Amino acid sequence: MSELETCVAHYQPTAEHNDALWKSFGQKTDTVSFLKLHRDWVEENSWGFGDRAFHYMWYLLLRDDVLNRPSPRLLEIGVYKGQVISLWALIAQRLGQPAEIAGVSPFTGGRPRFADNRVLHRLAQIISPGYRKDVRSANLYENVSYRLAVDRIFDQFGLRSANVNLLTGYSQDETVRAQLAARSFDLIYIDGGHRYEEVAQDLSFYAPLVGPGGYLVVDDASCDLPGTAFWKGHESVSRAVADWGAPGFVNVLNIGHDRVYKRHPQESVPL
Ligand SMILES: C[S@@+](CC[C@H](N)C(=O)[O-])C[C@H]1O[C@@H](n2cnc3c(N)ncnc32)[C@H](O)[C@@H]1O
Repeated sequence: MSELETCVAHYQPTAEHNDALWKSFGQKTDTVSFLKLHRDWVEENSWGFGDRAFHYMWYLLLRDDVLNRPSPRLLEIGVYKGQVISLWALIAQRLGQPAEIAGVSPFTGGRPRFADNRVLHRLAQIISPGYRKDVRSANLYENVSYRLAVDRIFDQFGLRSANVNLLTGYSQDETVRAQLAARSFDLIYIDGGHRYEEVAQDLSFYAPLVGPGGYLVVDDASCDLPGTAFWKGHESVSRAVADWGAPGFVNVLNIGHDRVYKRHPQESVPL
């Protein structure tokens, strides 16, 4: 049995188990030197979100399953500065396995963010319910060039030759969806727009693009999960995931606020 299979076989959605898993994955990140170096750099340079434990989660998913498939294809929705896609590329490079990596993101701050001006920030919250929702679900980003940031982290870890295709736009855009609709992925990570309706749309459109036996990982989605050691994510995201109900998938593992679903291996199971 691989370490991933053992984790899945022994997984229990209890507070004790969730806390212990999250703590041990955080520690295990430091036992693999390239994972540790990558995460240290991300933390020191504020190059991404999430927990240290996620690095080991990605390592297990890729090393013990995804990268062992013929022509593995991975997709991240919500790339920010490239922490996760560069980590996937680094793991593939270090394990000497090919991987086709795609990412969808606006690569700009997008909507206005008035965090630096308290008066405008407060005013926008009063007059705009949408802005209020974005503040609540931390859905607002600085207006900087995220494409340059992605290049920077790939350069930092010598990953320029990785097979990466970045699509600029929102995951709900018709132009983006049209480019992905006919494709199938071994792993999709949803960490884009955090409003309820954005997550609900992502789940309904992108979950069916996960191939049989593939993985869907959703970030910030553990508000209804027991545990006290880790931050559980956003109510909007957690509720969208609960309402989705994971048709055709099994929630095989949870690491903090990252929820890991595996699609049923038989094609015929409805989504
Ligand atoms: C929480 S950050 C992602 C962090 C990244 N996954 C990481 O671990 O470092 C969310 C990202 O999603 C992007 N985003 C926001 N709305 C989106 C949407 N509708 N479609 C795709 N990306 C979106 C934001 O611009 C931001 O880059």
